[in-house]
Amino acid sequence: MSERNFEIRNRHFDTLFNTPGLMWLGQNTNHFETAPEVRQAMLDSIAAEEFHAYAPPAGMEALRQGILQDVGLSGQSVMVTDGGVEALYTVCRNLCRPGDEFVTTDPGWKWPIHFSQAAGAKVIEIPIYDPARQYRLQVEQLEAAVTERTRAIYLVDPNNPLGVCYTDAELAAFAAIARRVGAYFIHDTTYRQFADSPALAARHYPERTLTIYSFSKWLGLAGLRVGAIISNPDLIELMASAPPNNLGCNVVSQRAAIAGLAIKDRWMKDIGPRQRRNQRVIHEAASRIPGLHIPVYPSQANFLVLEVIDAGITPEALCMAYRDENIMIRQGSYHTPAFGHRFVKISTTVPEAWADAFATRLPAMVEKARGIRQVGALF
Ligand SMILES: Cc1ncc(COP(=O)(O)O)c(C=O)c1O
Repeated sequence: MSERNFEIRNRHFDTLFNTPGLMWLGQNTNHFETAPEVRQAMLDSIAAEEFHAYAPPAGMEALRQGILQDVGLSGQSVMVTDGGVEALYTVCRNLCRPGDEFVTTDPGWKWPIHFSQAAGAKVIEIPIYDPARQYRLQVEQLEAAVTERTRAIYLVDPNNPLGVCYTDAELAAFAAIARRVGAYFIHDTTYRQFADSPALAARHYPERTLTIYSFSKWLGLAGLRVGAIISNPDLIELMASAPPNNLGCNVVSQRAAIAGLAIKDRWMKDIGPRQRRNQRVIHEAASRIPGLHIPVYPSQANFLVLEVIDAGITPEALCMAYRDENIMIRQGSYHTPAFGHRFVKISTTVPEAWADAFATRLPAMVEKARGIRQVGALF
């Protein structure tokens, strides 16, 4: 019997997770050393053994309020979830019904596509990998893609993987289109803390926008699983009626998130310039190699797309070459079958030494990738 795909995929990530010293430059996770206050909050929570009890079902009140204050939305409610991905699962499964249309961009993040398809929706992906359009969704494109069957518009902003961030005026126009056809607007702001001027669709369309929030990327809590849905109280009531996890999120994670919000200004002032410095080092290294190109720079998120197609190598071969150096980067096909053969993605919330290791090896890795024909399964 042939081995199931999920087993192969799981072993792949288990091997990565258990590789000592692996440099994680592939999943947009944040590997800067944790702030002492955040570490202490977790240690205190464990020492108090408070994890024997379930947390409040929609999240600790201090955390719910902290999230609202952080994004600066009033009149909205918060449901804390096991990461942004559970927020997206809950939203897609509650909103989408058979026959509905779910509109999103290509590239974007694939999991909400699976969630809405599993609920019976048809997915419409609008191509945005286009230098002529500055790699951004255009208002006319969205206008042309929606119909009276459009149930939800899902926008990753800043976009993963491209790193473009939408302006307030663009979000206002997108929200107006959603309102006109009666669609929900799912605004995935997982990477907003890295953007110079992030805006909020919820300001323009508070009645039907669901804002997705994550602590994985800016605070570095990916393995602790904590995020949220922010929306109007009626929609949160609906989301809270049959959630995947009604017994509250991890209490240690929530304590870490609360502590993180308290030191957020200081933390972002430290790591924000450091991850932009890493972007710069990678950009400089890429610009010295013929055929390599970074389409969006600086990225408004904590990663860069690096085009490799004109260097005559495949993204998969470059990932394999780096893997032998204990460096994980991501092939574009993870994000998009249509454009994924063009690029790799490199995360930049990493210690400077990791970004430097990537950059100094780049010429040799491109040469090595030319000789790699056989590539094992990558996910
Ligand atoms: C666009 C986007 N949304 C949501 C998530 C999920 O984040 P979390 O770790 O909070 O579940 C990711 C993770 O990579 C992402 O890229």
